Amino acid sequence: MTNIDHNTFIIADTHFGHLSIIKYEGRPFSSIDEMDDFMVEKWNSVVKPGDDVLHLGDLTYHNQSKSKAIIARLNGNIDMIWGNHDRHSEKWYQDLGIRSLHRIKRWTSFKNERIVFTHFPLCQPFSFPYACNIHGHLHSVGGYFNKRLWTPFNYNASAELIDYTPIKLGEILKAIDFEFIRKEWDKIESRWNDEGEN
Ligand SMILES: [Fe+2]
Repeated sequence: MTNIDHNTFIIADTHFGHLSIIKYEGRPFSSIDEMDDFMVEKWNSVVKPGDDVLHLGDLTYHNQSKSKAIIARLNGNIDMIWGNHDRHSEKWYQDLGIRSLHRIKRWTSFKNERIVFTHFPLCQPFSFPYACNIHGHLHSVGGYFNKRLWTPFNYNASAELIDYTPIKLGEILKAIDFEFIRKEWDKIESRWNDEGEN
């Protein structure tokens, strides 16, 4: 994939073609077609041809030809993180037009903000000190701070929480309190050091 930057669009859990998600998540649609058309329209209202989109998993429940038709309608170049419902081969997704697939992506902003992109939320990203985790999977499940911020370390970009519309990474960064995260990490560091002395 090309480099991630502040203009990269992020979205997770579109679940195109998934009838049950309408009921599970209380999505305001009466059919798959209505849901899919709404999400395509929302997507193309912000993403323009040539833009980059990082999809954080659970892309589609449709068969390959229907999925391909949906992806063909979506603007932009799509890179993807594997979700737990993305059960086909890498080639299957590449044949849809997905540019690249990843388990995890890391990125550091010009302000030295560290981001780890995953499908599942990282409970405590101890492997990635001072990092914030942007993820999906939780859908509309609430959070510690609010629905989007499950913990101060997590930002949930599931479609339900972002009005089914891809959101620019630069906008997400504004919602994350990196100063708070740094302080929390410093506390963890000092506890670690204190306990090491006893
Ligand atoms: Fe999902």
